[in-house]
Amino acid sequence: MPIRIPVILTGYGNVGKAFVRLIHEKAEYCRRRYGLDFELAAVLRRSGGWVPEGDSLEALAETAGQALESRPGWRPGLRLEAVFERHPPGVLADCTPSNLKTGEPQLAFFHAALDRGWHIAAASKGALCVDFRGLMSKARVRGVALKFSGATAAALPTLDLATVSLAGAVILGIEGILTGATNLILGRLEAGISFDAALKEAQAKGIVEPDPSLDIDGWDTAVKILLLANAAAGLELSLDEIAVEGIRHVSAERLVRARAEGRSIKLIGRLTRSEAGIKADVGPRAIEPSHPLFGFNGTTKGVAFTTDSLGTITVSGGKSGPFGTAASVLKDIINIYC
Ligand SMILES: NC(=O)c1ccc[n+]([C@@H]2O[C@H](COP(=O)([O-])OP(=O)(O)OC[C@H]3O[C@@H](n4cnc5c(N)ncnc54)[C@H](OP(=O)(O)O)[C@@H]3O)[C@@H](O)[C@H]2O)c1
Repeated sequence: MPIRIPVILTGYGNVGKAFVRLIHEKAEYCRRRYGLDFELAAVLRRSGGWVPEGDSLEALAETAGQALESRPGWRPGLRLEAVFERHPPGVLADCTPSNLKTGEPQLAFFHAALDRGWHIAAASKGALCVDFRGLMSKARVRGVALKFSGATAAALPTLDLATVSLAGAVILGIEGILTGATNLILGRLEAGISFDAALKEAQAKGIVEPDPSLDIDGWDTAVKILLLANAAAGLELSLDEIAVEGIRHVSAERLVRARAEGRSIKLIGRLTRSEAGIKADVGPRAIEPSHPLFGFNGTTKGVAFTTDSLGTITVSGGKSGPFGTAASVLKDIINIYC
């Protein structure tokens, strides 16, 4: 008998819509393979929410282009608390925008979910960036899971790899191309395309943050380094301890010159742990062909972990964009229950 799991989705933008499509498409597979039966309890936007009464997940998934407000399941002003009250605890899948300064709206959502014994699978980074320790410790006390693969390079396995496959090893260093949008833009600039046109191309793929400066100015990469440092390397880093430089001032000439010298400029997020202390930074770096991240172009992301006892492990790839991100949220939900 499959376990029925209520899922509340907050945020119905690029990733939220992909998530709805995905749990509909994968419903039968998840039932058969994992014995999990997802019940989409509600989808919340700012102005209200959708519930399945008078409507269905199937209809929602098949007409994703239709505005939520014009659907029979739309309830103006519906709040998260009201949905919690109508269901036994399940999972909050959060796909709302990341505000790295306030952590909202997720901060309030996450505390409310954890207080009621709901698990969380997040694509968003804001709340985790602002109060990582507080949220993780509340999750531990409440005995629920707070997972965030979607916030740590999504389809590229970074967090699971570091926490599961590198267990017992001290992480001495992390280096990553962790933002697909900036890697794509750097490649396009090198090919002679203007910054604005390259940014538009990345936006059309749905891979740019709602506030593009988060990507371009390096903050998206910085938060991923922060979350990996804290969740995987066991540190207590905060964002203001990371030196951050983005790609706004990288010229085409600089990219072409580096290429002519046999090097490639990438936006790299780094963490190093040595006797001198912990150092974390983000910036455009010219890397040599021998560097583990050298050949990763376009939207391809990659990360290399250096450890004391397991050597250096590099992973790359993963589907970029909203669908890959939604799939990483689903992966987290499955791993919570299986
Ligand atoms: N796009 C990607 O490839 C990607 C990859 C990894 C991680 N992420 C993360 O995933 C999250 C979503 O990204 P996205 O591209 O899907 O953003 P998006 O297209 O801008 O969608 C954001 C959604 O959140 C809703 N929202 C905003 N404030 C809300 C609130 N207070 N209550 C309920 N809903 C609220 C918005 O609703 P309204 O329409 O009512 O404003 C909108 O539906 C971000 O945190 C981002 O960092 C995205």
